[in-house]
Amino acid sequence: MTDPAFAPRDADSRPLWLVAQGGDGPVWPAGIDPAFPRAAGFAAKAGQVCLLPGPQGVAGALFGLGRTAAPGDRPPRERFVLAKAAEALPEGAWHLAEMPQAFDAAQGALGWLFAQYRFDRYKTADAPRARLVCPAGADADALLAMAAGEYLARDLINTPASDLGPAELEQAARDLAARHGAAVAVTQGADLARDFPMIHAVGRAAASGREPRLIDLRFPGDGPAVTLVGKGVCFDTGGLDIKPASSMGLMKKDMGGAANVLGLAETLARMGRAGGLRVLIPAVENSVGPDSIRPGDVLTSRKGLTVEVNNTDAEGRLVLADALALAAEEAPALLVSMATLTGAARVALGPDLPPFFCDDEAAAEALFRAGREAADPIWRMPFWEPYETMIEPAIADLDNAPGGGFAGAITAALFLRRFTEGARVYAHFDIYGWQPTPAPGRPKGGVGQGMRAILAALPRIV
Ligand code: BES
Ligand code: MN
Ligand code: ZN
Repeated sequence: MTDPAFAPRDADSRPLWLVAQGGDGPVWPAGIDPAFPRAAGFAAKAGQVCLLPGPQGVAGALFGLGRTAAPGDRPPRERFVLAKAAEALPEGAWHLAEMPQAFDAAQGALGWLFAQYRFDRYKTADAPRARLVCPAGADADALLAMAAGEYLARDLINTPASDLGPAELEQAARDLAARHGAAVAVTQGADLARDFPMIHAVGRAAASGREPRLIDLRFPGDGPAVTLVGKGVCFDTGGLDIKPASSMGLMKKDMGGAANVLGLAETLARMGRAGGLRVLIPAVENSVGPDSIRPGDVLTSRKGLTVEVNNTDAEGRLVLADALALAAEEAPALLVSMATLTGAARVALGPDLPPFFCDDEAAAEALFRAGREAADPIWRMPFWEPYETMIEPAIADLDNAPGGGFAGAITAALFLRRFTEGARVYAHFDIYGWQPTPAPGRPKGGVGQGMRAILAALPRIV
């Protein structure tokens, strides 16, 4: 991973003027003669760039913000407009010269860093060219910590299953722990089968060297007891209920929950806020083989609840359940799960707006607000009590895949909640973890979702 970086503050940087569109055309900054940009066709449209000539070439640039304020409380159509400048401007250091009062410079700078992410493990990518001097008043260290967490999450998701199986996911967690002095415990083999039977059952069909495991990270220092649990399915074939090719193609990203909780841990640790944090990752591969779990099998979970496996493709909730049960045993102040859990969440809200579930009104409100403020939008869905009957089938306590398929994201969340008793607040995020088409600051590929919402909401919850 290449670390995100700003240009040094003493860099010989060129000015970038951010120009909004007013009622009648661009709102020209003081000191800018509109004659040249006007003649060059610059109308301050969102993302539009106008290079300003000087005696030694390009002396500066104008960057269009479009119509900045969304009406009322409506979220803007696009996040991270300034990310476009990172790609469009010529090489060198740039600083924000002047901007509309409403413009959030810190968020703009974060978008710039996000745009400079490269996944260059398998081919060389062109290095980022235009560097930004961190705007005055913005906390450079905090922004770099957030970008580093995002980069880590993207790298992990983008790495194919051939190079990121359960063992490599464990190694990534160990590397993170080593960087920040966290303790690591990993359970596998017979111990896993005894203590985390559902994690073992889902992962046991994987090839040798790719065995299932539970990864447990604890960060040193004082702080509220916060436990993050991330779905670490390194590849999801669906198991014996095998997925069709069209649904399996992207399933290297089924460890997106794990990638996000590791990314968030990286950010918190860099900020010095990881004291009291615990991260749990059930790392498995949902494979097809003679040892695969079968439809109709009944598993006994760590918590003792029995589960009828009515679909081997609903594996995420099985592995998460055992990890959540372990987490809940020490009654954390906040328990969070992040998982690429259901197709139903995508049907409901699309790839860009992950649903979250939380029974605590104040915490849910804090998460929603924080998501909006941090340009990391999330949307609340209900743990809808009346649907509990849907996950109570014939011959076991729980059904992992209710027939009918109604409310699939909700029934998955209800299933998980059964294992969280003891935690003061529980919040579950059903994320997609993938940017299907490029957007400013978010190239096609793995993407973080919900990390900054949780980061910003944490102090308001615990
Ligand atoms: N990993 C998938 C969910 C998924 C699919 C997330 C596509 C993002 C994109 C999960 O393990 C799964 O297969 N879920 C099933 C559950 C069903 C069998 C109850 C689903 O959503 O179809
Ligand atoms: Mn599945
Ligand atoms: Zn899955």
